[in-house]
Amino acid sequence: MRTNIIVGVTGASGALYPLRLMQRLKRRGDVEIHLICSRAGEKTLYLETGKLASELKSLAHYSWPLEDIAAPLASGSFPTGGMVIAPCSIHTMSAIACGISSNLMIRAADVILKEKRRLILMVRESPFHLGHLRTMASLAEMGAIIAPPIPGFYNNPKTIEDLVDSSVDRVLDLLALPDDSIRRWRGPRTGAVAGPERDRPSEEEIPGEDANFRESEETTE
Ligand SMILES: Cc1cc2nc3c(=O)[nH]c(=O)nc-3n(C[C@H](O)[C@H](O)[C@H](O)COP(=O)(O)O)c2cc1C
Repeated sequence: MRTNIIVGVTGASGALYPLRLMQRLKRRGDVEIHLICSRAGEKTLYLETGKLASELKSLAHYSWPLEDIAAPLASGSFPTGGMVIAPCSIHTMSAIACGISSNLMIRAADVILKEKRRLILMVRESPFHLGHLRTMASLAEMGAIIAPPIPGFYNNPKTIEDLVDSSVDRVLDLLALPDDSIRRWRGPRTGAVAGPERDRPSEEEIPGEDANFRESEETTE
């Protein structure tokens, strides 16, 4: 049986995130993607990528209108493996925190929270004011996972896609749906090192590395 995953797309900046997330989820073959996109989400998608909502929808198995409050996703009886809002606007985040279930995206998120399932919010804004931070803290207390798209640089990203994937990797892990292309930090001797064709550094070359400590660590394994 395939796992239902809900992907919400709002009008926050970062339209590349849902595109990449859905591409990677769809490749797995064991997931059914249920997409809900806000009007602002459609607008930001076009402004940032030139793509129309139809292209986003083509990556999902089902696309639900924002107004369709009678959709299966609006009920706790519909089984899902979780929901990701990528990217998540301050508007939608705040509505979820207050339980204002005025559209299908917010209602579906509310259902995920009340059923104690995974709700992952890729909240995108900068800087955050105190109200934003308090809202995030309150959502974390309710069980939501606040996962802003903040890329890691330890795998030496070269392209925008690498940066986007760095955040999508972590979201796939949070969904417990990792794929083969996930990049993980495996320590300084096996991880990526900046600079073209650079040889692996010796431990003496890496600031903060203690060769003796590492050796004794390995011999006890
Ligand atoms: C190009 C563009 C970028 C935006 N970026 C952000 C953002 O990063 N974070 C945010 O909270 N809102 C952002 N907004 C504003 C939201 O789109 C707006 O608050 C909208 O009402 C959100 O509605 P929704 O949550 O229903 O999608 C942006 C709007 C535009 C047009």
